[in-house]
Amino acid sequence: MTPPLAERAATLGGPGAAAWDIHRRGMEARARGEDVIVLSVGDPEEDSPAAAVDAAVRALLDGDHHYAPVAGRRALRGAIAETVARQTESPVTAAQVMVLAGTQNALFASAQVLFDPGDEVIVCDPAYVTYAATLGAAGAVPVPVAPLDGFRPDPEGVERAVTDRTRGLLFASPGNPTGVAFDADELAALGKIAIAHDLWVLADEVYAGLVFDGAHRSIRSVPGLVDRTVVAGSLSKSHAMTGWRAGWAVAPEPVVEALDLLGLAMLYGLPGFVQEGATSALRLASDVPTAMRDRYRRRRDLVVDAVGAIDGLATVRPEAGMFVMIDVSSICARAGLGSSAEFADGLLESVGVSVLDGAAFGSSTDGWLRLSLCVDDDRLREAMARVDSYVGSLVD
Ligand SMILES: Cc1ncc(COP(=O)(O)O)c(C=O)c1O
Repeated sequence: MTPPLAERAATLGGPGAAAWDIHRRGMEARARGEDVIVLSVGDPEEDSPAAAVDAAVRALLDGDHHYAPVAGRRALRGAIAETVARQTESPVTAAQVMVLAGTQNALFASAQVLFDPGDEVIVCDPAYVTYAATLGAAGAVPVPVAPLDGFRPDPEGVERAVTDRTRGLLFASPGNPTGVAFDADELAALGKIAIAHDLWVLADEVYAGLVFDGAHRSIRSVPGLVDRTVVAGSLSKSHAMTGWRAGWAVAPEPVVEALDLLGLAMLYGLPGFVQEGATSALRLASDVPTAMRDRYRRRRDLVVDAVGAIDGLATVRPEAGMFVMIDVSSICARAGLGSSAEFADGLLESVGVSVLDGAAFGSSTDGWLRLSLCVDDDRLREAMARVDSYVGSLVD
């Protein structure tokens, strides 16, 4: 008989992981040749920048086949430091950079070195689907705090959620699924709470390069926050490099030293050719994020306008990122559907559009769907026409 798994393994499943089921079904249907528009994942359809591909291929051809420094090569750490310093409007040194396998791995690794079993970590709801497992794998306990109207963060709610066990605050800004980018006042208020209660701040900034209007703002730029903030990011979204797993944690040096030791035990460094590609992406493809941002802004407008034209649907205009949230609760009520999950299932089965159920991101987005902007404008238009016809079939 197989011995029991660690209790912690049970925290890895749950609604966050189950959310991907509909995406898997959408992908399988598409692989069978069915005409399915997959809007259930945030993976840009564009190829990665040629400069990154060339550098990685050249590195492989030149024999870059061996272990690389666990914390990352000097050139890459330097390029990341410059990028994140610009994005966060705060000085970053190469010694404050740990190269990791994507934002996800950076969040996971950071949780391992920052939190002890039983520690509470406040999470601004709605939150990315992996956060519960990311914290749960460290034994930490996520404490969701509901947002205000428009999915804005609620610093007063965060303050009320602090207990003797609270050790950290985790949020994504710009966020997934909502595309809300926290403003300077919101970040300052959250920063004040972190300082007052001596909390770590785990800031997921994977969408920093995709802010549609104005500049990205980081909590790292709030006075007093540099010493207690870990910024996680990657090239996945800004450079269409999801498959490279090239990301980072920018953190105070003692955290980077702990991450370096964890990296030794966990990953043993990102492959050298991936690091070469990532360095070239940051150094030579700086125009790519701007083009991506403009493209996603245009698609955001397209979808928001289309949602506005469908009676019974509502949305909150995203300020950043690659998703639009659609409120289907009133259609569900009118059509007698029990949940947004049922709506999403029907949308896939009847008209071949796969989206994620908002409930997977937290109770505040129950009744909503998350639709990705990662297909071209024509396919998005077609998807919205199918949504329109599905809604029509439910309520006519
Ligand atoms: C908010 C958020 N954090 C992290 C990730 C993971 O990104 P990466 O590919 O950099 O690991 C994603 C991917 O969709 C995301 O939306």
